[in-house]
Amino acid sequence: MSENFRGAKQGLTSYGDTGFSKFLRGVFLASAGWDATDLERPIVGIANTESDFNPCHRLVPAIIENIKRGVLEAGGVPFVFPTMSLGETLISPTSMYLRNLMAMETEEMIRSQPMDAVVLVGGCDKTVPAQAMAAISADVPALLEVVGPMLTSTWRGERLGACTDCRKMWASHRSGDVSADEIVEIGNALATTGGTCMVMGTASTMASLIETLGLMLPGGATPPSPTGERLRHATKTGRAAVRLAKEARSPSSFLSKGSFLNAVTVLAAIGGSTNAIVHLLAMAGRAGIDLTLEDMEEIFIKTPLLLDLKPSGAGYMEDFDRAGGVPQLLLRLHPLLDLEAIDMFGKSLGEQLSEISTREDQSTIHTLESPLLPAPT
Ligand code: FES
Repeated sequence: MSENFRGAKQGLTSYGDTGFSKFLRGVFLASAGWDATDLERPIVGIANTESDFNPCHRLVPAIIENIKRGVLEAGGVPFVFPTMSLGETLISPTSMYLRNLMAMETEEMIRSQPMDAVVLVGGCDKTVPAQAMAAISADVPALLEVVGPMLTSTWRGERLGACTDCRKMWASHRSGDVSADEIVEIGNALATTGGTCMVMGTASTMASLIETLGLMLPGGATPPSPTGERLRHATKTGRAAVRLAKEARSPSSFLSKGSFLNAVTVLAAIGGSTNAIVHLLAMAGRAGIDLTLEDMEEIFIKTPLLLDLKPSGAGYMEDFDRAGGVPQLLLRLHPLLDLEAIDMFGKSLGEQLSEISTREDQSTIHTLESPLLPAPT
């Protein structure tokens, strides 16, 4: 393994005297308990989007603890830093106009602080595309770790989840089928854990596409936020970030037109959020990849719907997770994918898929031969 990291010596603050810049950096890091041995190791920045204004991210602290553990186990030094956080339901007038600001802010914090790799912890709708855009532009070794979806709950025997059911139940209330008392009960059953909306909305869609692009370790899109599976994925991500730092593998080393076309195919097969079109174009643009609406249309008309999740189907993200998540979906979709596309470690999608076998014990991910809905043509 090559060792290309530069640790705390990189990106020195300008004082007009390089020796003094290094000395002063050491002085202040020593005040935080870091010694010379620590500072000979790769530094992994961890972008923290915990915010009381973003309830979807309320389990971020536990996830970050596990990422830090993974970084330390692999011989790196974890440095957590705050960035903007965009919680869909608490931002006025809408979160979209802040996506680019978050992308720029995150990018500049990655660029201006001495880190050999970065792990970006996001989840709620605009945070993931903003962080991906930042990572692509900064072009340092980067992995995204999402907070994961919420778990479902029930109300009087009916399974509920945010936010397809939020609109459905509110409509029932407005039509008089659900009383004022009942809608309060329902409101307490729609979002009962930390995590992102557990239908195939924008958060789940973007997590699935980021995993497809290879900006997230396999299996990262679907584990629910409150589970040990989520925490174990975070630990693995911390370890992998140190390896990425040592091998200096940045997004430009593996993102390709093929990987973006694969993401578009997945978007169609999961019945994902149409917002993803805007986000994918922005991410491809930052990667210098010429992805067009025509490319997308060509894929949309030939790709059937395979995933049985709300709002297109019946299930929720925890069902997708139990069915094997994105790797299992990619396996079923492989005739429509570019198998030469590589992940962050240079492994081709074909190689990755050859290591897993088809799960027959589930009904959430359909096959190309028997899709939930056939392709439009
Ligand atoms: Fe955060 Fe839905 S409101 S993911």
